[in-house]
Amino acid sequence: MKPRKLHIKSYGCQMNVYDAQRMVDTLAGEGFVETTNADDADLVILNTCHIREKASEKVYSELGRLRVMKEEAARQGRRIDIAVAGCVAQAEGGEIINRAPVVDVVVGPQSYHHLPQLLARAERDGRALETEFPTEDKFAFLPPPKPDVIRARGISAFVTIQEGCDKFCTFCVVPYTRGAEVSRPVSKIVDDVKRLADHGVREITLIGQNVNAYHGEGPDGRTWPLGTLLHRLAEIPGIVRLRYSTSHPRDIDDALIEAHRDIPAAMPFVHLPVQSGSDRILSAMNRKHTARDYRRAIDRFRSLCQDIAFSSDFIVGFPGESEEDFQATLALVTQIGYAAAYSFKYSPRPGTPAAEMQEMVSADEMDERLARLQELIDSQQSAFNRASIGTTVDVLFERPARNPGQIVGRTAYLQPAHVIATEAIVGQVLPVKIESLERYSLLGELACPVPRLAAAPETMPTTHPSETTMGA
Ligand code: 5AD
Ligand code: SF4
Repeated sequence: MKPRKLHIKSYGCQMNVYDAQRMVDTLAGEGFVETTNADDADLVILNTCHIREKASEKVYSELGRLRVMKEEAARQGRRIDIAVAGCVAQAEGGEIINRAPVVDVVVGPQSYHHLPQLLARAERDGRALETEFPTEDKFAFLPPPKPDVIRARGISAFVTIQEGCDKFCTFCVVPYTRGAEVSRPVSKIVDDVKRLADHGVREITLIGQNVNAYHGEGPDGRTWPLGTLLHRLAEIPGIVRLRYSTSHPRDIDDALIEAHRDIPAAMPFVHLPVQSGSDRILSAMNRKHTARDYRRAIDRFRSLCQDIAFSSDFIVGFPGESEEDFQATLALVTQIGYAAAYSFKYSPRPGTPAAEMQEMVSADEMDERLARLQELIDSQQSAFNRASIGTTVDVLFERPARNPGQIVGRTAYLQPAHVIATEAIVGQVLPVKIESLERYSLLGELACPVPRLAAAPETMPTTHPSETTMGA
């Protein structure tokens, strides 16, 4: 049978990038092959994000374009199925069907293992929708990726260890779209990581909406925290780097901080969103921590791990945020000193408590605060990057760069680093003497002879798994 083509477009966070891969793996069993070109696809999946208004609006404009494509294909006697997955599907399932009749399947994030049945149902009944939180564990049904697929995806991979969130920050849709916090058992995660490592993966980013709330069942029958899980994963041959995202300040414990001190593979770069530096706003956000608690968590990390650096998420213009509150955010940023950070204008999300709050900050004020915050963050990021010029840093090489002859990798802090070398270095961690900085990329020279190793994986992804933010 001729393979059918699947095009999947992901918006939003790392979890969606990972979920997209799992959907591709599931549909591979149904004879689908992935295509990067929507125009020749038999099935287009929009894997959506609902975290901010802009993110969910993009879905409807994309559906408008897909309607034209689908009608054109129908005129030529070709059927194209359109599916909406991800958090917009979960939050607005029925509404999508009404607003965009072009959609054949709506599937929430907990039901991806049902995609084949949903497609069959859509073909039979015209439409299929599933946004329940099923009782069975979808991971038990999602097939693992095939070895050639793992290799094609490159040396850095995501593994979901936890999903959902019980924190209920007042601005956030995640507890509603991804549901309650659930941790996967240690043994399943170890199996996934071993399989990836066996087929060339060297770096794992453990993902979850609130990943340091991890409390999975260990092989000893006890509940393991993230720090203990990191110890176990670091023992897996081939794994040289471990990362995790996204963490909540309240769930930082000593086991995690000590894991950074004790495990060389635990990268000294932690994404720890704080959202605001004002206690008044943190309380209105229901963050369950103060600015002081956050500073203390950072200090605890720094006292044990001198080389640790942080990134964060910020929201400006939360309802009721005064200039004084915003100043407290700037002060916190100045005091902590970030290697990178994401900042967003507050966007009211339907169904969240903050959406009912009055005292909206004006659009102009939000723009102005965002610009000031981003300027401060940019200057910190540039200073952080510039500080590596002249030093020798370890780089995990990922793939040939766009510039011919160059290979690109990442430092411990996820800075892209380019050297002139052969592809043989892909998959290896090698010291690089950094010579210059071009925008956000470091340029340097290998500071060691290239060791001869077995062949490197053939192709690499174009973006790093950790380039987006999510949850916590
Ligand atoms: N408005 C603006 N930003 C938001 N985020 C989450 N919800 C909202 C919202 N309603 C941001 C937070 C979170 C990141 C993933 O997205 O900073 O950490
Ligand atoms: Fe949970 Fe993070 Fe959303 Fe808060 S911001 S509810 S911690 S996912």
